[in-house]
Amino acid sequence: MEGEKVEIRVGEATEDDISAFATFFWQAWEQAGPEAEGFVGASDQVISELTAPEVVRERIGGPDRRMFLAWDRERVVGFAATKRVDAKTVELAGIIVLESSSGRGVGSRLVEAAIRRAQAEGYLGMVVRTEITNQRARAFYETRGFTVDGSTFESVEGEMVEVWELTRTVT
Ligand SMILES: CC(C)(COP(=O)(O)OP(=O)(O)OC[C@H]1O[C@@H](n2cnc3c(N)ncnc32)[C@H](O)[C@@H]1OP(=O)(O)O)[C@@H](O)C(=O)NCCC(=O)NCCS
Repeated sequence: MEGEKVEIRVGEATEDDISAFATFFWQAWEQAGPEAEGFVGASDQVISELTAPEVVRERIGGPDRRMFLAWDRERVVGFAATKRVDAKTVELAGIIVLESSSGRGVGSRLVEAAIRRAQAEGYLGMVVRTEITNQRARAFYETRGFTVDGSTFESVEGEMVEVWELTRTVT
């Protein structure tokens, strides 16, 4: 198996990556399917909206948002996005790894990249929300230094869902 190992490259997304991100996002949705954890409220229409070039461009840059991509050769296999909450706190506003690439440390590398960038930008803490049914994501975050602060409700694509709120320091 060692011989088949392909180096995963993780880096911050640029405007050149808009179409690679869109291809990835459609693949992630197709591999996961409508019942998958982490895809509450998703539909072909929602994915279509989220992969529109102007929407992706907004998530990639600007003063408040960053996006990180994991590449397997020329293909994006995972993404993470962050969004400023206030001067001290940044939110991990999305993280998805292709089902076919999961369990290989890609998600961990994406979280590390987001944390390093948050540190460099002077944030003190990171917050993330995940549906209370998403055990896998909760365990994933807890192993990476996040602790559950409590639960709250939020609107996801028009549906009210209960989410855990987890935080960790980034210093
Ligand atoms: C959560 C997610 C981003 C993790 O990405 P990943 O690349 O698989 O992460 P890693 O390989 O770095 O670590 C995965 C961990 O989950 C475990 N794992 C892998 N596949 C698993 C599975 N099918 N079920 C449960 N745990 C699994 C691994 O053993 C590893 O455990 P560890 O924390 O003890 O190290 C990915 O599973 C995913 O995209 N899920 C669907 C979308 C989602 O739920 N996003 C979060 C919403 S807030």
